[in-house]
Amino acid sequence: MIVTTKDLFEQAYGKYAVGAYNINNLEQTVGLFRGNLGKINSNDEPADPAASAPFIIQISRGARGFTDKRFLEAMIRAAEDVFPAAIFAVHLDHGTEEVCYDCIESGFYSSVMIDASHETFDKNIEITRRVVERAHERGLSVEAELGMLGGVEEDIQVSAEHACLTDPDQAVEFVERSGCDSLAVAIGTSHGAYKFTGSQGLHFDRIAQIQKLLPGFPLVMHGSSSVPKEWVDRINNAGGQLPNTSGVKEDQYLPAAKLGVTKVNIDTDGRLIWCAVYREMFRDKPADFDPRTPGKPFMAEYAKYIKHKNQMLGSAGQLEKVRAALAAQPA
Ligand code: G3H
Ligand code: 13P
Ligand code: ZN
Repeated sequence: MIVTTKDLFEQAYGKYAVGAYNINNLEQTVGLFRGNLGKINSNDEPADPAASAPFIIQISRGARGFTDKRFLEAMIRAAEDVFPAAIFAVHLDHGTEEVCYDCIESGFYSSVMIDASHETFDKNIEITRRVVERAHERGLSVEAELGMLGGVEEDIQVSAEHACLTDPDQAVEFVERSGCDSLAVAIGTSHGAYKFTGSQGLHFDRIAQIQKLLPGFPLVMHGSSSVPKEWVDRINNAGGQLPNTSGVKEDQYLPAAKLGVTKVNIDTDGRLIWCAVYREMFRDKPADFDPRTPGKPFMAEYAKYIKHKNQMLGSAGQLEKVRAALAAQPA
């Protein structure tokens, strides 16, 4: 069942974080739905209530253009049928103003992200405000971004020295003037596989300052992959050449969630799992050329990873509570 992002945030705020996972293809979509219901190997396994989690499925501009956005939307609709127990929101990740309008008009999305964080403060507010007005007319909520994360996203690359943490006072002014419903904040993370080379981590002091000034307001953490060493090693053992880096420590998700980080964005880890499984197949079965040979273990590995990640986010086991809360809402 597709629900609003706002509904999911209302249930989660201050208690756990909702996983927001990017998809680009069929195997990722199936693995994601299975994992969020605790089904690992097949669509027909019974759902595991202790593992079942509400989630957000995110589509980036790159994902929309990869084949055709209609394929992704049709896959998500099909997944809704195949997995009737799932409760999830559909979100545009890192949208431009134009793409946000396209998603808003489509009637398919629960929420959009307008990313004008590379603009000046006033221009970011102005653009976000316009998107908020159009989105709210149609019942969608809007995520905006303030501050500059490091790393690569779509066609924008931000070097470490240009990345800057979100200023708490500016965050308050930004939310008031733009009318956005959630805010992506720069709190030490960056996009991609190369986040930390040492013992760096989240800036909890900064998250706490922002929450103090914006109590009850959902914050979003981008660049939240943990870049598991196990997967980097598996890629490199199968011919890959990834440097040794690390991502967000998984035991930092829940403390961040208690401070208002309600949505945690994860894409890179899924790509690493994909890369490892496919590389291993090419290494171990050089005479095999069936796309299902790597596709099947990938879906199982990805589902296992999602199940584990939801446990770390605290969203595992929350699905039935969310279902009950939604059913109790006045019509
Ligand atoms: O933050 C960016 C996401 O990981 C999406 O990546 O734009 O390459 O699809 P993408
Ligand atoms: P990662 O690169 O850490 O997976 O972050 C993804 C993201 O922020 C998507 O918006
Ligand atoms: Zn992002």
